[in-house]
Amino acid sequence: MQHFAIGLAGMGNVGAGVFKHLTQNRALLRERLGFELDVKKIALRDINKNRGVDFPTGIVTTRWQDILDDPEIRIVVELMGQKEESLRFMLGAIERGKTVVTGNKALLAEHGREIFDAATKHKVPVFFEAAVAGGIPIIKAIREAFIGNHIRSIHGIINGTSNYILTQMTEREISFTEALAEAQAQGYAEADPTLDVNGWDAAHKAVILASLAYGFWVPTDKIFVEGIDQITAGDIRFAKKLGYAIKLLGIIKADENGEIEVRVHPTLIPEKHVLASVNGVFNALAVHGDVVGETLFYGRGAGQDPTTSSVIADLAEAAAALQSPRSNYGFMPHGLYGTCKPIDQIVCEYYLRLTVEDRPGVVAQVAGVLGALNIGISSLFQPEGTEGEAVPLVFVIHKATSAQIQNALDQIGALPCVKKAPRMIRVENFA
Ligand code: NDP
Ligand code: HSE
Repeated sequence: MQHFAIGLAGMGNVGAGVFKHLTQNRALLRERLGFELDVKKIALRDINKNRGVDFPTGIVTTRWQDILDDPEIRIVVELMGQKEESLRFMLGAIERGKTVVTGNKALLAEHGREIFDAATKHKVPVFFEAAVAGGIPIIKAIREAFIGNHIRSIHGIINGTSNYILTQMTEREISFTEALAEAQAQGYAEADPTLDVNGWDAAHKAVILASLAYGFWVPTDKIFVEGIDQITAGDIRFAKKLGYAIKLLGIIKADENGEIEVRVHPTLIPEKHVLASVNGVFNALAVHGDVVGETLFYGRGAGQDPTTSSVIADLAEAAAALQSPRSNYGFMPHGLYGTCKPIDQIVCEYYLRLTVEDRPGVVAQVAGVLGALNIGISSLFQPEGTEGEAVPLVFVIHKATSAQIQNALDQIGALPCVKKAPRMIRVENFA
């Protein structure tokens, strides 16, 4: 029986899961694959930390360079979650002809081009199923299952932590801070949870998906990103009254000219849409291909076990690729698409929450600004509640460009009857 030696860099939440499940399901993997996957070295920083899993101390090193220097190790797993060091580790592995498996979406989003250029040059595959949507095999789906499709759109809930927070704020009415602490305790959040709540973890995943779907590595400065940190319990309640749920949504679309848009932001989606019932740590992606039509993927988007499941699938494929080399190294660039639409030109619908003086004529003033800018109102309501002399006033606005709505917000915010900066959240009706 052939054995493949693996170097595991990172023994945190995910790394420990990979070691545990490779060990527990060893017989199953052997039977299915016809070879053995052996972890030969583990790199970590703190040798005294309890990781909740038993592993031989003799294979541990605090220098990830030891993995690169071992000629028997032909597959490396990067689960350190670092920037410079993880990049050096991955590029060092590629230069030495070692196959790479990683879950590091931040690194791939920022350095994907460099990594895949190196992979192609050295003919070394890079696998990264764990980088997007935890246990959902979405990378395989976009790259392989939909290879014969132009991807029209992807709408995805792709950050487990923020979905967990929004769900807990909605269902248990706990605070944002409490819900984030719970997500961290469950191992869902990034080492720096700011990335989860400011939208950038989802944005890194959106960049990876868009790059795979459209064949060019999408620059992170060409996408629009907003997090859930400004969402209030009031917004969630008002949205519900209007028949919507608020989700952090990644939206990726291509138009008929081959121009794409990539954005991540809190979004009001109709309560009846299937994505509105994706709760807790679960992720889901609705992918529309020109041949396949609508498809839906659902599963746990973060946490030790689902992420481990994706890493192990990649390990099995990495070893199979060593047995039968392929010409696909993880990313297939092409020239059919190539430009990203500026956010100013992106068209969508909007929820506006204003805090206004409680007196006659206020609605007319706000409606006047919108009307003068040729922006239509699709609904309007005055929710319960007061803020001193001021009251909330909520509008849903018909389709407009971001530039138009920004202009409207500036003018509305300057009206004397408007007491606080207006709050705007984008709406997606999937029409
Ligand atoms: P953790 O912070 O729990 O684990 C990181 C591990 O890397 C730790 O064991 C740490 O060692 C080790 N490490 C960090 N720097 C070094 C270094 N310089 N040398 C050696 N070891 C090092 O992160 P996670 O396991 O949660 O995440 C790992 C990766 O997987 C990240 O890229 C993350 O974005 C990604 N990911 C995470 C998911 C999740 O649900 N948590 C889901 C999908 C992807 P020590 O323990 O000694 O400090
Ligand atoms: N922090 C990430 C999340 C981990 O919450 O989705 C999975 O990529």
